[in-house]
Amino acid sequence: LFMSDLSEFNVLEQQIKDTLNLEHVIITPGNSDEHALVKQELGKTAVDYLHSILVSNQTVAVTGGTSMTAVAEMMRPSNHAVNCLFVPARGGLGERVENQANTICAEMAKKANGDYRLLYVPDPLSEDTYQSIIEEPSVKEILHNIRQANVVVHGIGDALTMAKRRKASEEVLHKIQSGNAVSEAFGYYFDDTGEVIHKVRTVGMQLEDLSKIKSVIAVAGGKSKAKAIHSYFKQGKSSVLITDEAAAKELIKGF
Ligand code: F6P
Repeated sequence: LFMSDLSEFNVLEQQIKDTLNLEHVIITPGNSDEHALVKQELGKTAVDYLHSILVSNQTVAVTGGTSMTAVAEMMRPSNHAVNCLFVPARGGLGERVENQANTICAEMAKKANGDYRLLYVPDPLSEDTYQSIIEEPSVKEILHNIRQANVVVHGIGDALTMAKRRKASEEVLHKIQSGNAVSEAFGYYFDDTGEVIHKVRTVGMQLEDLSKIKSVIAVAGGKSKAKAIHSYFKQGKSSVLITDEAAAKELIKGF
């Protein structure tokens, strides 16, 4: 990485920040679609940023996915923030165990010397189960913790990629395709105007809850995710974007 890259990144960061109306944008070199190391670097950058804002006794809610797995891999103790609580933002959402929010949350807590609470709910949830499960005392307790989150760290995915990865039903796939969904985050699928096209039924953080949380940090890179990142930020509920060079360069082409 040369000085010229640094200033080039600064200009890019500023452009993205202004256009998407964000508080902070950080770009790491490379394309995480192509190299695992780039995703690791994305994870490390997210950890550095998290430590720069985290204070003692705060609650951090996290989502699943491979980018968040990279964040958990790179997690380390903070030298100032102690006693933090890590919670999954929402239920399983159809990810493999190693990429589930519960797994990531436990690993992050362990590495940060923090505490964690997990959310055990069937995935996907039927309407009936949903109604009775939110009345369970143990579920109620963790939902309370989730709503108290001070910081949220989450992934953003391409809508169709995520629907397929979750083995969504034909009906859901059709809804997502005919509604022209572009991005996915927190189990919500958005079109390119930021409109919600479909929502996975599960307990935990709802989109509305995000507006009350001061630090909502998105971690998403790779050229293939540029459109998704753009679409997700149309509804503007996150304040920070940690991305890579390839996504950033592709993103500004669309501005
Ligand atoms: O399924 C959890 C999740 O955070 C989604 O909301 C998001 O679209 C996806 O993972 C991102 O996954 P990855 O980082 O592997 O692209």
